[in-house]
Amino acid sequence: MSNSSSILLALLVVVVAVVASSLSRKRAGKLPPGPRGLPLLGNALDMMKLRPWLVYNEWKQQYGDIVYFTAADRGCLLLSSHKTTHELMDKRGSNYADRPRAVMSGEIVGYHPKVSVPNYNVPRVRQMRKIIIEGQNAKRLNDSIIPVVEEKLQGLLISFLHKPDDFAHHIKKFIAGVIFEITYGHVLEDDDDKLWETYEQMSKDFSLSTSIGAFAVDSVPALKYLPRWLNLGWMQEADRMIALRDVHAQVPYDAVKEQVANGTARPSLMATLLERGQPTLEQEDIFKWVGSDFYSGGSDTTTAFFLSFVYMMSLHPEAMRKAQKEIKQVVGNRLPTLADKAQLMYVDAVVQEIFRLNPVVPIIPHATAEDDEYEGYFIPKGTTVIANVWAIAHDESVYPDPHTFKPERYLNQEENARTGTNPDPRKNMAFGYGRRICPGQHMAEPVTFLTVMTILSVFDIEATNPNAPKPDFSKAEKYTTELFSRPEPFTCRIVPSSKESEALIRALEV
Ligand code: HEM
Repeated sequence: MSNSSSILLALLVVVVAVVASSLSRKRAGKLPPGPRGLPLLGNALDMMKLRPWLVYNEWKQQYGDIVYFTAADRGCLLLSSHKTTHELMDKRGSNYADRPRAVMSGEIVGYHPKVSVPNYNVPRVRQMRKIIIEGQNAKRLNDSIIPVVEEKLQGLLISFLHKPDDFAHHIKKFIAGVIFEITYGHVLEDDDDKLWETYEQMSKDFSLSTSIGAFAVDSVPALKYLPRWLNLGWMQEADRMIALRDVHAQVPYDAVKEQVANGTARPSLMATLLERGQPTLEQEDIFKWVGSDFYSGGSDTTTAFFLSFVYMMSLHPEAMRKAQKEIKQVVGNRLPTLADKAQLMYVDAVVQEIFRLNPVVPIIPHATAEDDEYEGYFIPKGTTVIANVWAIAHDESVYPDPHTFKPERYLNQEENARTGTNPDPRKNMAFGYGRRICPGQHMAEPVTFLTVMTILSVFDIEATNPNAPKPDFSKAEKYTTELFSRPEPFTCRIVPSSKESEALIRALEV
Protein backbone atom coordinates (compact mmCIF):
# COMPACT_ATOMS: atom_id res chain seq x y z
CA MET A 1 0.00 0.00 0.00
CA SER A 2 1.33 3.49 -0.80
CA ASN A 3 2.01 6.10 1.90
CA SER A 4 -0.98 8.20 0.94
CA SER A 5 -3.43 5.31 0.88
CA SER A 6 -2.23 4.18 4.35
CA ILE A 7 -2.79 7.65 5.72
CA LEU A 8 -6.23 7.76 4.08
CA LEU A 9 -7.06 4.40 5.58
CA ALA A 10 -5.89 5.56 9.01
CA LEU A 11 -7.98 8.72 8.74
CA LEU A 12 -10.97 6.58 7.83
CA VAL A 13 -10.35 4.47 10.94
CA VAL A 14 -10.25 7.69 13.02
CA VAL A 15 -13.54 8.94 11.57
CA VAL A 16 -15.30 5.58 11.97
CA ALA A 17 -14.06 5.20 15.56
CA VAL A 18 -15.15 8.70 16.56
CA VAL A 19 -18.58 8.39 14.90
CA ALA A 20 -19.14 4.90 16.36
CA SER A 21 -18.17 6.10 19.80
CA SER A 22 -20.43 9.15 19.72
CA LEU A 23 -23.36 7.04 18.48
CA SER A 24 -22.81 4.49 21.23
CA ARG A 25 -22.50 7.15 23.96
CA LYS A 26 -25.50 6.78 26.19
CA ARG A 27 -27.54 9.94 26.67
CA ALA A 28 -29.51 9.07 29.80
CA GLY A 29 -29.88 12.71 30.75
CA LYS A 30 -28.73 16.26 30.26
CA LEU A 31 -24.96 16.72 30.16
CA PRO A 32 -23.37 19.67 32.01
CA PRO A 33 -22.85 22.84 29.91
CA GLY A 34 -19.64 23.36 27.97
CA PRO A 35 -17.96 24.44 24.73
CA ARG A 36 -19.16 22.79 21.53
CA GLY A 37 -15.80 22.23 19.87
CA LEU A 38 -15.07 21.16 16.29
CA PRO A 39 -16.92 18.42 14.41
CA LEU A 40 -15.36 15.00 15.22
CA LEU A 41 -12.41 16.47 17.13
CA GLY A 42 -14.46 18.25 19.79
CA ASN A 43 -12.11 20.26 22.01
CA ALA A 44 -9.13 17.91 21.53
CA LEU A 45 -7.00 20.81 20.27
CA ASP A 46 -7.70 22.84 23.44
CA MET A 47 -6.49 19.91 25.55
CA MET A 48 -3.26 19.94 23.58
CA LYS A 49 -2.57 23.64 24.19
CA LEU A 50 0.31 24.76 26.34
CA ARG A 51 -1.01 25.38 29.87
CA PRO A 52 -4.47 23.92 29.16
CA TRP A 53 -5.41 24.96 32.72
CA LEU A 54 -5.68 28.56 31.52
CA VAL A 55 -8.19 27.52 28.84
CA TYR A 56 -10.04 25.52 31.50
CA ASN A 57 -10.07 28.58 33.74
CA GLU A 58 -11.77 30.56 30.95
CA TRP A 59 -14.39 27.83 30.60
CA LYS A 60 -15.00 28.04 34.33
CA GLN A 61 -15.74 31.79 33.95
CA GLN A 62 -18.00 31.10 30.97
CA TYR A 63 -19.89 27.93 31.95
CA GLY A 64 -19.41 27.50 35.71
CA ASP A 65 -17.88 25.00 38.13
CA ILE A 66 -18.92 21.94 36.21
CA VAL A 67 -18.25 21.80 32.48
CA TYR A 68 -18.62 18.96 29.99
CA PHE A 69 -16.73 18.78 26.71
CA THR A 70 -15.52 16.17 24.28
CA ALA A 71 -12.08 15.49 22.88
CA ALA A 72 -12.53 13.21 19.86
CA ASP A 73 -14.18 10.06 21.28
CA ARG A 74 -13.55 11.02 24.91
CA GLY A 75 -16.08 12.75 27.18
CA CYS A 76 -14.53 15.07 29.77
CA LEU A 77 -15.89 16.64 32.93
CA LEU A 78 -14.08 19.67 34.27
CA LEU A 79 -14.50 20.42 37.98
CA SER A 80 -13.39 23.89 39.02
CA SER A 81 -14.42 24.39 42.65
CA HIS A 82 -13.71 22.95 46.09
CA LYS A 83 -17.40 22.04 46.30
CA THR A 84 -17.57 19.94 43.10
CA THR A 85 -14.19 18.21 43.54
CA HIS A 86 -15.05 17.39 47.15
CA GLU A 87 -18.59 16.17 46.43
CA LEU A 88 -17.64 14.02 43.46
CA MET A 89 -13.97 13.01 43.72
CA ASP A 90 -13.82 12.74 47.54
CA LYS A 91 -17.35 11.86 48.71
CA ARG A 92 -18.23 9.63 45.75
CA GLY A 93 -14.65 8.41 45.70
CA SER A 94 -15.33 4.81 44.67
CA ASN A 95 -16.89 5.98 41.39
CA TYR A 96 -14.32 8.68 40.67
CA ALA A 97 -11.05 6.83 41.28
CA ASP A 98 -10.35 5.39 37.84
CA ARG A 99 -7.84 6.88 35.43
CA PRO A 100 -8.60 8.09 31.90
CA ARG A 101 -7.67 5.80 29.06
CA ALA A 102 -3.89 6.16 28.76
CA VAL A 103 -3.12 5.45 25.12
CA MET A 104 0.51 6.56 24.91
CA SER A 105 1.71 5.70 28.41
CA GLY A 106 -0.41 2.57 29.00
CA GLU A 107 -1.37 0.95 25.70
CA ILE A 108 1.66 1.90 23.59
CA VAL A 109 4.62 2.26 25.97
CA GLY A 110 3.22 -0.23 28.53
CA TYR A 111 3.54 1.66 31.81
CA HIS A 112 0.43 -0.04 33.26
CA PRO A 113 2.42 -1.90 35.95
CA LYS A 114 2.90 1.52 37.58
CA VAL A 115 0.36 2.37 40.27
CA SER A 116 -0.95 5.57 38.72
CA VAL A 117 -1.94 4.27 35.26
CA PRO A 118 -4.60 1.53 35.76
CA ASN A 119 -8.13 1.89 37.09
CA TYR A 120 -8.66 1.71 40.85
CA ASN A 121 -10.58 -1.57 40.90
CA VAL A 122 -7.46 -3.52 39.85
CA PRO A 123 -6.38 -5.24 43.14
CA ARG A 124 -2.73 -4.60 42.30
CA VAL A 125 -3.30 -0.82 42.52
CA ARG A 126 -4.64 -1.09 46.07
CA GLN A 127 -1.80 -3.43 47.09
CA MET A 128 0.80 -1.01 45.71
CA ARG A 129 -0.78 2.00 47.40
CA LYS A 130 -0.82 0.08 50.69
CA ILE A 131 2.91 -0.73 50.44
CA ILE A 132 3.75 2.88 49.56
CA ILE A 133 1.67 4.27 52.45
CA GLU A 134 2.96 1.72 54.97
CA GLY A 135 6.46 2.57 53.80
CA GLN A 136 5.90 6.02 55.35
CA ASN A 137 4.08 5.03 58.54
CA ALA A 138 4.90 7.07 61.66
CA LYS A 139 7.62 4.68 62.80
CA ARG A 140 9.40 4.48 59.45
CA LEU A 141 9.04 8.23 59.06
CA ASN A 142 10.69 8.97 62.44
CA ASP A 143 13.28 6.18 62.48
CA SER A 144 14.25 5.84 58.83
CA ILE A 145 13.02 8.64 56.57
CA ILE A 146 13.49 11.90 58.51
CA PRO A 147 17.05 10.99 59.66
CA VAL A 148 18.01 10.37 56.01
CA VAL A 149 16.40 13.67 54.98
CA GLU A 150 18.28 15.52 57.77
CA GLU A 151 21.58 14.02 56.68
CA LYS A 152 21.03 14.85 52.99
CA LEU A 153 19.87 18.34 53.97
CA GLN A 154 23.25 19.00 55.55
CA GLY A 155 24.83 18.08 52.20
CA LEU A 156 22.42 20.44 50.46
CA LEU A 157 23.40 23.36 52.71
CA ILE A 158 27.10 22.68 52.06
CA SER A 159 26.50 22.55 48.29
CA PHE A 160 24.53 25.84 48.43
CA LEU A 161 27.45 27.44 50.27
CA HIS A 162 30.09 26.34 47.77
CA LYS A 163 28.24 26.47 44.47
CA PRO A 164 25.09 28.56 44.99
CA ASP A 165 24.52 29.11 41.27
CA ASP A 166 23.93 25.37 40.79
CA PHE A 167 21.03 25.38 43.27
CA ALA A 168 18.63 23.64 40.86
CA HIS A 169 21.03 20.74 40.41
CA HIS A 170 21.68 20.49 44.17
CA ILE A 171 17.93 20.33 44.87
CA LYS A 172 17.39 17.61 42.31
CA LYS A 173 20.29 15.59 43.69
CA PHE A 174 19.09 16.07 47.28
CA ILE A 175 15.65 14.61 46.47
CA ALA A 176 17.06 11.80 44.34
CA GLY A 177 19.51 10.97 47.16
CA VAL A 178 16.69 10.77 49.72
CA ILE A 179 14.48 8.61 47.50
CA PHE A 180 17.24 6.17 46.46
CA GLU A 181 18.38 5.75 50.03
CA ILE A 182 14.96 5.14 51.59
CA THR A 183 13.79 2.93 48.71
CA TYR A 184 16.90 0.88 47.91
CA GLY A 185 19.56 1.85 50.48
CA HIS A 186 21.49 3.18 47.47
CA VAL A 187 23.85 6.05 48.37
CA LEU A 188 23.92 8.67 45.65
CA GLU A 189 27.33 10.33 45.61
CA ASP A 190 28.44 11.07 42.06
CA ASP A 191 26.69 13.23 39.53
CA ASP A 192 27.13 10.48 36.93
CA ASP A 193 25.52 7.78 39.07
CA LYS A 194 24.15 5.26 36.56
CA LEU A 195 20.99 4.49 38.51
CA TRP A 196 20.16 8.19 38.81
CA GLU A 197 20.68 8.68 35.07
CA THR A 198 18.36 5.79 34.22
CA TYR A 199 15.67 6.89 36.67
CA GLU A 200 15.80 10.47 35.47
CA GLN A 201 15.22 9.35 31.91
CA MET A 202 12.37 7.02 32.93
CA SER A 203 10.79 9.76 35.00
CA LYS A 204 10.95 12.22 32.09
CA ASP A 205 9.50 9.60 29.72
CA PHE A 206 6.72 8.70 32.11
CA SER A 207 5.69 12.25 32.81
CA LEU A 208 5.76 13.14 29.10
CA SER A 209 3.79 10.06 28.10
CA THR A 210 1.09 10.81 30.68
CA SER A 211 0.79 14.55 29.99
CA ILE A 212 -2.67 15.31 28.64
CA GLY A 213 -2.08 16.90 25.27
CA ALA A 214 1.55 15.89 24.78
CA PHE A 215 0.70 13.25 22.16
CA ALA A 216 -2.12 13.50 19.61
CA VAL A 217 -2.71 9.76 19.98
CA ASP A 218 -4.09 10.36 23.49
CA SER A 219 -6.68 12.80 22.20
CA VAL A 220 -7.44 10.74 19.05
CA PRO A 221 -6.77 7.12 20.11
CA ALA A 222 -7.55 5.70 16.66
CA LEU A 223 -4.20 7.14 15.52
CA LYS A 224 -2.54 4.22 17.28
CA TYR A 225 -3.62 2.03 14.33
CA LEU A 226 -1.42 4.00 11.92
CA PRO A 227 1.21 1.63 10.46
CA ARG A 228 4.52 1.61 12.37
CA TRP A 229 6.57 2.13 9.19
CA LEU A 230 5.28 5.69 8.98
CA ASN A 231 7.89 6.22 11.71
CA LEU A 232 6.18 9.33 13.06
CA GLY A 233 7.83 11.28 15.88
CA TRP A 234 5.64 9.81 18.62
CA MET A 235 6.31 6.26 17.36
CA GLN A 236 10.05 6.78 17.68
CA GLU A 237 9.58 8.30 21.15
CA ALA A 238 7.50 5.29 22.19
CA ASP A 239 10.18 2.81 21.03
CA ARG A 240 12.83 4.69 23.01
CA MET A 241 10.65 4.67 26.15
CA ILE A 242 9.86 0.95 25.79
CA ALA A 243 13.58 0.13 25.72
CA LEU A 244 14.00 1.59 29.23
CA ARG A 245 10.63 0.60 30.67
CA ASP A 246 11.42 -2.70 32.40
CA VAL A 247 15.12 -2.40 32.95
CA HIS A 248 15.02 0.68 35.21
CA ALA A 249 12.97 -1.10 37.90
CA GLN A 250 14.69 -4.48 37.56
CA VAL A 251 18.30 -3.40 38.12
CA PRO A 252 18.00 -1.83 41.63
CA TYR A 253 15.54 -4.51 42.70
CA ASP A 254 17.97 -7.30 41.76
CA ALA A 255 20.79 -5.50 43.57
CA VAL A 256 18.84 -5.30 46.87
CA LYS A 257 17.68 -8.91 46.48
CA GLU A 258 21.28 -10.05 46.23
CA GLN A 259 22.33 -7.88 49.19
CA VAL A 260 19.51 -9.31 51.32
CA ALA A 261 20.59 -12.83 50.36
CA ASN A 262 24.22 -12.24 51.37
CA GLY A 263 23.40 -10.11 54.42
CA THR A 264 24.85 -6.83 53.16
CA ALA A 265 21.64 -4.90 52.50
CA ARG A 266 21.43 -1.40 53.97
CA PRO A 267 18.11 -0.45 55.62
CA SER A 268 15.51 0.43 52.98
CA LEU A 269 11.88 -0.17 52.05
CA MET A 270 12.90 -2.79 49.47
CA ALA A 271 15.13 -4.63 51.95
CA THR A 272 12.28 -4.66 54.50
CA LEU A 273 9.89 -6.13 51.91
CA LEU A 274 12.39 -8.80 50.83
CA GLU A 275 13.41 -9.72 54.38
CA ARG A 276 9.81 -10.83 55.06
CA GLY A 277 10.45 -14.05 53.10
CA GLN A 278 10.59 -15.31 49.54
CA PRO A 279 8.08 -13.23 47.51
CA THR A 280 5.88 -14.79 44.82
CA LEU A 281 6.52 -13.77 41.20
CA GLU A 282 3.49 -11.48 41.39
CA GLN A 283 4.79 -9.84 44.58
CA GLU A 284 8.22 -9.39 43.02
CA ASP A 285 6.64 -7.52 40.13
CA ILE A 286 4.71 -5.32 42.55
CA PHE A 287 7.83 -4.55 44.66
CA LYS A 288 9.84 -3.64 41.55
CA TRP A 289 7.24 -1.17 40.33
CA VAL A 290 6.66 0.30 43.80
CA GLY A 291 10.35 1.23 43.72
CA SER A 292 9.83 2.89 40.36
CA ASP A 293 6.76 4.76 41.68
CA PHE A 294 8.63 6.19 44.66
CA TYR A 295 10.93 7.93 42.22
CA SER A 296 8.47 8.98 39.52
CA GLY A 297 5.90 10.08 42.15
CA GLY A 298 8.30 11.78 44.54
CA SER A 299 11.17 13.20 42.55
CA ASP A 300 9.79 15.69 40.01
CA THR A 301 6.96 16.83 42.29
CA THR A 302 9.16 17.61 45.28
CA THR A 303 11.87 19.18 43.09
CA ALA A 304 9.22 21.40 41.47
CA PHE A 305 8.03 22.48 44.92
CA PHE A 306 11.55 23.39 46.13
CA LEU A 307 12.38 25.30 42.95
CA SER A 308 9.14 27.19 43.41
CA PHE A 309 10.14 27.92 47.02
CA VAL A 310 13.52 29.37 45.98
CA TYR A 311 11.88 31.40 43.20
CA MET A 312 9.13 32.77 45.46
CA MET A 313 11.66 33.78 48.13
CA SER A 314 13.78 35.60 45.54
CA LEU A 315 10.65 37.53 44.45
CA HIS A 316 9.24 38.22 47.93
CA PRO A 317 12.04 39.35 50.25
CA GLU A 318 9.58 40.77 52.81
CA ALA A 319 7.93 37.34 53.30
CA MET A 320 11.35 35.68 53.49
CA ARG A 321 12.53 38.12 56.21
CA LYS A 322 9.40 37.52 58.30
CA ALA A 323 9.90 33.75 58.10
CA GLN A 324 13.59 34.11 59.01
CA LYS A 325 12.76 36.33 61.96
CA GLU A 326 10.28 33.78 63.27
CA ILE A 327 12.82 30.96 62.93
CA LYS A 328 15.47 33.02 64.73
CA GLN A 329 13.10 33.75 67.63
CA VAL A 330 12.01 30.13 68.06
CA VAL A 331 15.19 28.24 67.15
CA GLY A 332 18.07 30.57 67.97
CA ASN A 333 21.49 29.74 66.59
CA ARG A 334 21.15 26.07 65.66
CA LEU A 335 19.59 24.16 62.80
CA PRO A 336 15.83 23.65 63.26
CA THR A 337 14.14 20.26 63.59
CA LEU A 338 10.58 19.12 63.02
CA ALA A 339 9.98 19.52 66.76
CA ASP A 340 10.04 23.31 66.14
CA LYS A 341 7.26 23.16 63.56
CA ALA A 342 4.32 23.84 65.91
CA GLN A 343 5.76 27.27 66.78
CA LEU A 344 6.54 28.34 63.22
CA MET A 345 3.15 29.52 62.01
CA TYR A 346 4.46 32.02 59.48
CA VAL A 347 6.88 29.50 57.93
CA ASP A 348 3.96 27.10 57.61
CA ALA A 349 1.96 29.85 55.89
CA VAL A 350 4.84 30.38 53.43
CA VAL A 351 4.82 26.65 52.63
CA GLN A 352 1.04 26.69 52.06
CA GLU A 353 1.28 29.71 49.76
CA ILE A 354 3.94 28.01 47.64
CA PHE A 355 1.66 24.99 47.26
CA ARG A 356 -1.23 27.29 46.23
CA LEU A 357 0.03 30.04 43.96
CA ASN A 358 1.61 27.76 41.35
CA PRO A 359 0.32 24.24 42.05
CA VAL A 360 2.83 21.50 41.24
CA VAL A 361 0.04 19.47 39.60
CA PRO A 362 -2.28 22.08 37.98
CA ILE A 363 -4.79 19.56 36.63
CA ILE A 364 -5.50 16.10 38.04
CA PRO A 365 -7.18 13.50 35.82
CA HIS A 366 -9.45 10.76 37.19
CA ALA A 367 -12.29 8.87 35.44
CA THR A 368 -15.73 7.53 36.35
CA ALA A 369 -16.27 3.79 36.77
CA GLU A 370 -20.09 4.00 36.43
CA ASP A 371 -22.80 6.38 35.18
CA ASP A 372 -23.63 9.07 37.73
CA GLU A 373 -25.96 12.00 38.24
CA TYR A 374 -25.08 15.29 39.91
CA GLU A 375 -27.27 18.37 40.33
CA GLY A 376 -29.55 17.18 37.55
CA TYR A 377 -26.72 16.46 35.12
CA PHE A 378 -25.88 13.05 33.69
CA ILE A 379 -22.22 11.98 33.94
CA PRO A 380 -21.53 8.93 31.76
CA LYS A 381 -19.37 5.98 32.80
CA GLY A 382 -15.81 6.31 31.51
CA THR A 383 -15.85 10.14 31.57
CA THR A 384 -12.42 11.72 32.07
CA VAL A 385 -12.82 13.86 35.19
CA ILE A 386 -10.35 16.75 35.40
CA ALA A 387 -9.85 18.51 38.73
CA ASN A 388 -9.03 22.05 37.66
CA VAL A 389 -6.62 22.66 40.56
CA TRP A 390 -5.07 25.80 39.08
CA ALA A 391 -8.49 27.49 38.81
CA ILE A 392 -9.49 26.37 42.31
CA ALA A 393 -6.25 27.76 43.73
CA HIS A 394 -6.95 31.08 41.97
CA ASP A 395 -10.62 31.33 42.90
CA GLU A 396 -11.13 34.86 44.22
CA SER A 397 -14.09 33.88 46.40
CA VAL A 398 -11.93 31.34 48.28
CA TYR A 399 -8.49 32.96 48.13
CA PRO A 400 -9.04 36.75 47.97
CA ASP A 401 -6.42 38.56 45.87
CA PRO A 402 -5.62 35.15 44.38
CA HIS A 403 -2.70 36.00 42.09
CA THR A 404 -0.60 37.54 44.87
CA PHE A 405 1.90 35.70 47.10
CA LYS A 406 0.46 36.41 50.53
CA PRO A 407 1.29 33.93 53.34
CA GLU A 408 -0.57 36.16 55.82
CA ARG A 409 -3.86 34.92 54.35
CA TYR A 410 -3.55 31.68 56.37
CA LEU A 411 -2.78 33.23 59.75
CA ASN A 412 -6.22 34.29 60.97
CA GLN A 413 -7.60 30.80 61.26
CA GLU A 414 -10.74 31.81 63.16
CA GLU A 415 -11.74 34.37 60.55
CA ASN A 416 -10.92 31.92 57.73
CA ALA A 417 -13.06 29.21 59.34
CA ARG A 418 -15.92 31.68 59.79
CA THR A 419 -15.84 32.93 56.19
CA GLY A 420 -14.82 29.65 54.55
CA THR A 421 -11.78 31.29 52.97
CA ASN A 422 -8.11 30.39 52.61
CA PRO A 423 -8.25 26.66 53.39
CA ASP A 424 -4.90 24.87 53.62
CA PRO A 425 -4.08 23.91 50.00
CA ARG A 426 -2.32 20.75 51.23
CA LYS A 427 -5.59 19.45 52.65
CA ASN A 428 -7.89 19.84 49.70
CA MET A 429 -6.13 20.05 46.34
CA ALA A 430 -2.32 20.00 46.15
CA PHE A 431 -2.11 16.24 46.75
CA GLY A 432 -5.22 15.21 44.83
CA TYR A 433 -8.49 13.59 45.73
CA GLY A 434 -10.37 10.63 47.12
CA ARG A 435 -8.98 7.15 46.69
CA ARG A 436 -6.19 8.31 44.38
CA ILE A 437 -4.90 10.96 46.78
CA CYS A 438 -1.09 11.13 46.73
CA PRO A 439 0.21 8.15 48.76
CA GLY A 440 3.49 10.04 49.27
CA GLN A 441 1.83 12.91 51.15
CA HIS A 442 2.82 11.41 54.52
CA MET A 443 6.46 12.09 53.80
CA ALA A 444 6.06 15.02 51.40
CA GLU A 445 4.47 17.28 54.04
CA PRO A 446 7.18 16.96 56.73
CA VAL A 447 9.98 16.93 54.14
CA THR A 448 8.81 20.14 52.45
CA PHE A 449 8.42 21.91 55.79
CA LEU A 450 11.75 20.70 57.20
CA THR A 451 13.65 21.69 54.08
CA VAL A 452 12.09 25.14 53.76
CA MET A 453 12.74 26.05 57.40
CA THR A 454 16.29 24.65 57.37
CA ILE A 455 17.30 26.60 54.26
CA LEU A 456 15.73 29.80 55.61
CA SER A 457 17.46 29.35 58.96
CA VAL A 458 20.89 29.92 57.37
CA PHE A 459 20.51 31.42 53.88
CA ASP A 460 19.22 34.58 52.26
CA ILE A 461 17.73 34.10 48.80
CA GLU A 462 17.89 37.23 46.67
CA ALA A 463 16.74 38.13 43.16
CA THR A 464 19.59 38.68 40.70
CA ASN A 465 17.75 41.75 39.47
CA PRO A 466 15.41 43.00 42.24
CA ASN A 467 13.95 45.71 39.99
CA ALA A 468 12.78 43.36 37.25
CA PRO A 469 8.96 43.26 36.91
CA LYS A 470 7.28 40.37 38.75
CA PRO A 471 5.68 37.64 36.63
CA ASP A 472 1.92 37.80 36.14
CA PHE A 473 0.68 34.78 38.06
CA SER A 474 -2.85 35.21 36.73
CA LYS A 475 -1.34 33.89 33.48
CA ALA A 476 0.90 31.28 35.15
CA GLU A 477 3.84 33.21 33.69
CA LYS A 478 7.38 31.84 34.18
CA TYR A 479 6.06 28.39 35.08
CA THR A 480 6.48 25.36 32.84
CA THR A 481 3.62 23.67 31.08
CA GLU A 482 4.37 20.05 31.97
CA LEU A 483 2.32 17.62 34.04
CA PHE A 484 4.38 18.74 37.05
CA SER A 485 4.72 22.50 36.71
CA ARG A 486 7.84 24.23 38.00
CA PRO A 487 9.49 27.64 37.50
CA GLU A 488 11.24 28.06 34.17
CA PRO A 489 15.05 28.21 34.63
CA PHE A 490 15.93 31.32 36.67
CA THR A 491 18.90 32.78 38.51
CA CYS A 492 19.14 34.11 42.06
CA ARG A 493 21.74 34.72 44.78
CA ILE A 494 21.89 32.32 47.70
CA VAL A 495 24.19 33.59 50.48
CA PRO A 496 24.57 32.77 54.20
CA SER A 497 22.36 35.15 56.19
CA SER A 498 25.11 35.95 58.77
CA LYS A 499 28.61 34.99 59.93
CA GLU A 500 27.02 32.67 62.53
CA SER A 501 24.97 30.95 59.82
CA GLU A 502 28.06 30.41 57.71
CA ALA A 503 29.88 28.96 60.73
CA LEU A 504 26.93 26.60 61.35
CA ILE A 505 27.16 25.28 57.79
CA ARG A 506 30.95 24.98 57.84
CA ALA A 507 30.72 22.98 61.08
CA LEU A 508 28.72 20.37 59.13
CA GLU A 509 31.66 19.79 56.79
CA VAL A 510 33.91 18.18 59.40
C1 HEM B 1 5.48 18.10 46.92
C2 HEM B 1 5.38 16.83 46.75
C3 HEM B 1 4.24 16.09 46.07
C4 HEM B 1 3.11 16.57 45.45
C5 HEM B 1 2.68 18.01 45.25
C6 HEM B 1 2.36 15.42 44.97
C7 HEM B 1 1.14 15.49 44.32
C8 HEM B 1 0.45 14.40 43.83
C9 HEM B 1 -0.80 14.47 43.15
C10 HEM B 1 -1.61 15.74 42.89
C11 HEM B 1 -1.15 13.21 42.79
C12 HEM B 1 -2.41 12.79 42.01
C13 HEM B 1 -3.49 12.42 43.02
C14 HEM B 1 -4.83 12.13 42.37
O1 HEM B 1 -4.86 11.53 41.30
O2 HEM B 1 -5.87 12.52 42.93
C15 HEM B 1 -0.09 12.33 43.23
C16 HEM B 1 -0.08 10.96 43.02
C17 HEM B 1 0.96 10.14 43.41
N1 HEM B 1 2.05 10.50 44.18
FE1 HEM B 1 2.47 12.35 44.87
N2 HEM B 1 3.05 14.29 45.30
C18 HEM B 1 4.18 14.64 45.98
C19 HEM B 1 5.12 13.79 46.53
C20 HEM B 1 5.12 12.42 46.42
C21 HEM B 1 6.09 11.55 47.02
C22 HEM B 1 7.26 11.97 47.93
C23 HEM B 1 5.80 10.28 46.60
C24 HEM B 1 6.57 9.04 46.99
C25 HEM B 1 6.06 7.98 47.42
C26 HEM B 1 4.61 10.36 45.75
C27 HEM B 1 4.01 9.31 45.10
C28 HEM B 1 2.84 9.38 44.36
C29 HEM B 1 2.23 8.25 43.67
C30 HEM B 1 2.79 6.84 43.60
C31 HEM B 1 1.05 8.73 43.07
C32 HEM B 1 0.05 7.94 42.23
C33 HEM B 1 -1.07 7.40 43.12
C34 HEM B 1 -2.20 6.70 42.38
O3 HEM B 1 -2.37 6.88 41.17
O4 HEM B 1 -2.96 5.94 43.02
N3 HEM B 1 4.23 11.68 45.68
N4 HEM B 1 0.86 13.07 43.88
